[in-house]
Amino acid sequence: MKSLVMFSCCVGLILAFGCASEPAPSTLQPRLAPSQPNGLSELAGTMVAMDDQLTRIQKNIDAKGFSWEGQSLDMHNLMDRHPTDEAMVNGHFEVHARLYRQAITQFNTSPSAEAFNQVVDACKSCHLGTCPGPLERIEKRRVASGASERR
Ligand code: HEC
Repeated sequence: MKSLVMFSCCVGLILAFGCASEPAPSTLQPRLAPSQPNGLSELAGTMVAMDDQLTRIQKNIDAKGFSWEGQSLDMHNLMDRHPTDEAMVNGHFEVHARLYRQAITQFNTSPSAEAFNQVVDACKSCHLGTCPGPLERIEKRRVASGASERR
């Protein structure tokens, strides 16, 4: 009984922090991620870095003297990173990895609140078809249009 409770907790944790947002329908067995030495797959680790750089800009927006000019985002390569589960890197993923790169290039060419939100949209579009779990977290990266312009 105790081990059953432990097991349910583990599945719950993976569902909460991994890709799944809703409990899997009862016909599907939850797919457990293979354990990774550092707890995150290469791809998931890259995602955390991508998320962090958005958060970094988001925090700076409120700082005095912030300007979109000169802000830039690193272009992470997504195609050569090992995922938690090979099935995540599907056709949808490949198409959206390209669109994500375009959104980053666009932001770096002409950084603005709008271009920033287009990067957030690119995160979201890929996640809708591969990994819906972090959608709520991604939505929090959106900035107010015209953020920092009228100060
Ligand atoms: C091309 C598709 C794609 C794009 C674009 C994308 N993601 Fe992901 N993301 C994934 C996949 C697939 C995973 C699951 C990775 C794994 O578990 O190996 C993931 C995982 C994550 C995670 C969970 C990491 C963890 O702790 O397990 C977060 C958070 C995340 N992405 C945020 C973002 C943000 C923010 C962006 C945009 C800056 C973004 N993603 C862009 C496909 C994408």
